[in-house]
Amino acid sequence: MEMFLPLLMRWLHIFTGIAMVGGAVGGAYLGQPMVAPIARNAVFSGIVAIFLSGFYNMMQLMGSAPKGWHMWFGIKFLLALHVFAMIFLLTKTDATPEKRKRWQVSALIGTAAVVAAGAYLRSLRGV
Ligand code: HEM
Repeated sequence: MEMFLPLLMRWLHIFTGIAMVGGAVGGAYLGQPMVAPIARNAVFSGIVAIFLSGFYNMMQLMGSAPKGWHMWFGIKFLLALHVFAMIFLLTKTDATPEKRKRWQVSALIGTAAVVAAGAYLRSLRGV
């Protein structure tokens, strides 16, 4: 039972990232280069969910984290803010297609880097 909360938080962190970034970036392949403005609440809820589960993870791990972990966590956090900003911008109605393309590519590159940093953080802990 003591596994439940950490597992739930891990699931929430990864699932919300996949759903939110996948929806925003994958939309381009479906001819939907914007996130509907009506989905702003969903985007906001997704950001809150990733934050809460991320902070939960951080509080669990910070005390025993090895050298370098905190620095890479900071980098991951800043990259995640960038991804959130890109997805939020995609809900704007008055942006040109060129800008949308740039935001989508930028969110995709940012997510690749965030997930790489997440994987590296984990491996720093030797798991
Ligand atoms: C675009 C947003 C984000 C994405 C896509 C993302 C993705 C990931 C992924 C894939 C992992 C590795 C999960 C695992 O193997 O268990 C991870 C770990 C983690 N994330 Fe995030 N994350 C995001 C934002 C955040 C934010 C905002 C925070 C802090 C508030 C955060 C804190 C953490 C922590 C503490 C870990 C655990 C690192 C470790 O295992 O040592 N993440 N994240």
